[in-house]
Amino acid sequence: MAKVPVKIVSWEEIVEWSKGLAERIRGDGFQPDVVIAVSRGGFVPARLICDFLDVTNLLSIQSQHWVEAARMAEKAILRFPYRVDLSGMRAILVDDIVDTGDTLQLARDFVVREWRPSELKVAALQWISSVAKIRPDYYYLEVRDWTWFQYPWTRLEDTMQFIVRIFREDERARGRSLSEDEIAWLFREFYGVDPRQLGLYWGLALKRLVEKGILRLEDGRYYLAKAG
Ligand code: ADE
Repeated sequence: MAKVPVKIVSWEEIVEWSKGLAERIRGDGFQPDVVIAVSRGGFVPARLICDFLDVTNLLSIQSQHWVEAARMAEKAILRFPYRVDLSGMRAILVDDIVDTGDTLQLARDFVVREWRPSELKVAALQWISSVAKIRPDYYYLEVRDWTWFQYPWTRLEDTMQFIVRIFREDERARGRSLSEDEIAWLFREFYGVDPRQLGLYWGLALKRLVEKGILRLEDGRYYLAKAG
């Protein structure tokens, strides 16, 4: 049993799910004049939705979690709260996943208040209904058991974080050095994912962690170099 439930998502699934999401939007009779991607996760689904719904206007808004170090609290913030005038336009805000819903809620409220579209709908590929504070108007999959969806556009960053987490949290890795095979073995156990499924990203993640000084490589063994 994996300690962190992970679903590796393929590009083919992204196309299939985005098409399914677009069909729900179309089936509901909603034809947006403009698509708004919630950056960064909503970019690829938003672009595919434009294609499937024949929309040429694509904007984005960057909403993300910000860890306030002093308080150890995670807060959603808008990175570039610029203003545009969407009056008289029907808009749809698209994200990859609604997990807690904080970032999407912030983006939605801002767009309604400052960009003033005539109508605003919210769509996401996944909705984690057991934890989300908001329910999107359209979603492709409802997820009840919390899962980390490893999307193709965060494969390198996620693989790096997954590896570091093993060094920090696994009793057999903490304060020790590991060979690549040992990391791969623990990775399989921790995430239920065979590193071979990650293709070129596996080697790239290890290389990047060493380049960034987060891991140290000596005589074919990796050490966690940085604390924190
Ligand atoms: N971003 C926020 N929550 C996520 C999840 N459960 N899976 C993938 N990306 C996410």
